[in-house]
Amino acid sequence: MSSSILVTGGAGFIGSNFVLGWLKHCPGNVVTFDILSYAGNLGNLESIDADPRHFFIRADINDEETVRKAIQQHQPSAIVHFAAESHVDRSILGPAEFIRTNIQGTFTLLQQALEYWRSLPEDRRSDFRFLHVSTDEVYGSLGPEDAAFSETTAYSPNSPYAASKAAADHLVRAYSHTYGLPTLTTNCSNNYGPYQFPEKLIPLVILNALKGESLPIYGDGRNVRDWLYVKDHCAAIRTVLAKGVVGETYNIGGCTERQNIQVVELVCDILDRLKPKSSGSYKSQIVFVKDRLGHDRRYAVNCTKIKEQLGWQPEESFESGMQKTVEWYLTNQEWVRRVQSGEYLTWIEKQYGAQQAHAADRQ
Ligand code: NAD
Ligand code: TYD
Repeated sequence: MSSSILVTGGAGFIGSNFVLGWLKHCPGNVVTFDILSYAGNLGNLESIDADPRHFFIRADINDEETVRKAIQQHQPSAIVHFAAESHVDRSILGPAEFIRTNIQGTFTLLQQALEYWRSLPEDRRSDFRFLHVSTDEVYGSLGPEDAAFSETTAYSPNSPYAASKAAADHLVRAYSHTYGLPTLTTNCSNNYGPYQFPEKLIPLVILNALKGESLPIYGDGRNVRDWLYVKDHCAAIRTVLAKGVVGETYNIGGCTERQNIQVVELVCDILDRLKPKSSGSYKSQIVFVKDRLGHDRRYAVNCTKIKEQLGWQPEESFESGMQKTVEWYLTNQEWVRRVQSGEYLTWIEKQYGAQQAHAADRQ
């Protein structure tokens, strides 16, 4: 049997970039395990539709039986866990789903991973990895002069999303410490790039700008995030899987702190060059709107550990990554149209239907 990795949430934004990158750069099979929530989109994986190395299972990580079956069937050498509810604003409006997927779902997955790992012969047991993909938001909010988050910064999550990810991180840590499950955890800053669902700042701004709609900036627009191009994040995860020390956590970031207003202005500058309007700059569409509840002021990531110990560093600067991102949205209008029209959701219902929603195996 050829080697496999199992990727939860592989039809989402970062997960799909990871699956595509893995098939390009690494040997072996990839099993995408994804419930296809509003954020999961098989269109992201269209280019590998005919790839015999890719398998897709539509299922919930909370569905213990299907998780067990998938692991038994594919015998992965690693589980890379992206599946989550990921949008802070949604977690403020409705936190329950975040508790269910991010905490309960991670617990279910850990239990199944542990059962499987314990059953492996010694050589495969020492090679196995459970890599948990997390966020810098678990560390809370920084003041303007505070040092960037390091792996030893105390957890201080502020939103329901961040709290649910923090809880999952703690569970992963406990499974490593208590049971010896070979885990790795990565805490990454804000990602941007191809296939990001347009509820997040950068794709939202690109697409609203093109439609002539307002570009909503929360509060005073001076909140700071560290930004990383998604393909650099995926390369970092591959590096951690290959070289990371079991039980450790690694912070990942772009060393690119920007205020939200600077991010939005850069998008407008790029669009002004690539797709100029007759009526002046896209910046005229910027509007300041009511702030997000509990909005974290600043995130910054210290990634010295992964750079020095594992030799990873980002390839894209913020400017080059943003240029590629805007170009991607301009040239992938059909993907945009399908996402915005909800057509892909309709297609999923037609394709799988409620009665088959458990485990629709493709290939
Ligand atoms: P996303 O919302 O685009 O994708 C999440 C994917 O998980 C979707 O395909 C969805 O269908 C799937 N999913 C949701 N619930 C599921 C369930 N119960 N069972 C199976 N699949 C389920 O998210 P993303 O932005 O790609 O983030 C992926 C991971 O990376 C998340 O764990 C997130 O916390 C983490 N992260 C994201 C960022 C970022 O900037 N987007 C930064 C750091 C870390
Ligand atoms: P977002 O992309 O939602 O990521 P996160 O909240 O996980 O950092 O938001 C990035 C920043 O942009 C955050 O400070 C909130 C802000 N923001 C806006 O100002 N307007 C918007 O419409 C959105 C979605 C976000």
